[in-house]
Amino acid sequence: MLNDQTINAGKKFVTNVGLITSNGPIGQNIMSAEWTHRISSDPFLIAICLNAGNATNENILNSNEFGVNLASESQGFICSISGNYTGKEIDKIKALEKLGAEFYKAENIDAPMLKNATATFECKVIEHKKYGSHMMYIGCVVKATYSDENPIVYHSKKFWKISENIPKPNPKKLEEMEDIIEKHRK
Ligand SMILES: Cc1cc2nc3c(=O)[nH]c(=O)nc-3n(C[C@H](O)[C@H](O)[C@H](O)COP(=O)(O)O)c2cc1C
Repeated sequence: MLNDQTINAGKKFVTNVGLITSNGPIGQNIMSAEWTHRISSDPFLIAICLNAGNATNENILNSNEFGVNLASESQGFICSISGNYTGKEIDKIKALEKLGAEFYKAENIDAPMLKNATATFECKVIEHKKYGSHMMYIGCVVKATYSDENPIVYHSKKFWKISENIPKPNPKKLEEMEDIIEKHRK
């Protein structure tokens, strides 16, 4: 059992929202996954962590492939619908199309990809394993695209915009930092 301290500490993470697209026994589907992380640069590997009861999990177990579409700032409604309804009950792709989302056919996987996402990655599963509550899939990226759209930010169960850039320390502070670092050289 987790205590309140642990539950609330968990809300302090800041993440992207990965919109995970798949195709399989459930049909074409999309779900929101905040637990979407790059874990290797070359080969380019992405890990996603899915609740075992999700429709997406069933699709990927069968197809061994998935799409990662990093949601952009204008795609909050897609994140909400993809994260609050299951593909076992709702055709989320068709519903989202009616609401203005656009999808296209992937080149290397049999799943729809989302237009106007910040970045998209077509992934082939190289490994999967259950860790605690979630199933982790590691996908090798076989095709990537990106756009000029800013990524949506997920934090404390809300969607945010990237706003202000934190400036670097001024030259005097930088000099002071370098001095101190030099003094601590091993
Ligand atoms: C912003 C957001 C992020 C989410 N991140 C995850 C996640 O990382 N892993 C997960 O298993 N569920 C996550 N969920 C919940 C799933 O998206 C939700 O259970 C969804 O209904 C699963 O869809 P499916 O059954 O069609 O696969 C998230 C929901 C939201 C709104």
